Amino acid sequence: MRLLIDNANLELIKQMYEYYPVDGVTTNPSILAKEKRPPFEVLREIRKWIGPEADLHAQVIARDAEGMVTDAERICRELGENTFVKIPVNREGLKATKLLYAKGIRVTGTAVYTRMQGWLAGKAGASYVAPYVNRIDNLGGCGVQTAKDIHDMLRKNNIACDILAASFKNSQQVQELALYGAGAATVSPDVMEGFIRNTTVDSAVDAFISDFEGLTSPGMTMAAL
Ligand code: G3P
Repeated sequence: MRLLIDNANLELIKQMYEYYPVDGVTTNPSILAKEKRPPFEVLREIRKWIGPEADLHAQVIARDAEGMVTDAERICRELGENTFVKIPVNREGLKATKLLYAKGIRVTGTAVYTRMQGWLAGKAGASYVAPYVNRIDNLGGCGVQTAKDIHDMLRKNNIACDILAASFKNSQQVQELALYGAGAATVSPDVMEGFIRNTTVDSAVDAFISDFEGLTSPGMTMAAL
């Protein structure tokens, strides 16, 4: 499962890249708004830092299909290869997805709350569809199950599209989709930090070090022996 960072803050992105095995960055208009700077300035900085090989996802704003296509072309011009244009999966978005597929522009169908949206966007030519796991849970549904069902619908219908599960609030949601073989997940830095935060592990490591220091001397390491 590819793992992406759902954030546009370059300092946080750098931290996540330093510590975690990540494959790229996703943004949306609300995430960009938090940076309080011109959107393309922020996106270009992210692209420059993560490099041309990493995945970068940026969303269109226009409401109609033709405007979405124009937004998508500008996004790709600004951000280069390995850019995925996020298109909301509604009626206009499906039309835009078909047009962009024909132009060879890769699409991530976003704001996906239902299985039908996921299947349609994949069939229209999206490379990824993004079920909003936690937002679905908040509506009384089961986000993880919806994501799994979309994954299955795409596979069983031989549609060359993966899920890029999004909107996570805890490690368990992510881990369940990794176990299921989901194509990708995008996770905010705070949820990502929770993947590995575990005081029991810290205690075990402390005990190992303490035993070793008892055998040798305080502060001793293998390299310093
Ligand atoms: O980028 C889309 C998705 O990740 C939004 O997440 O936390 O706003 O529900 P959230």
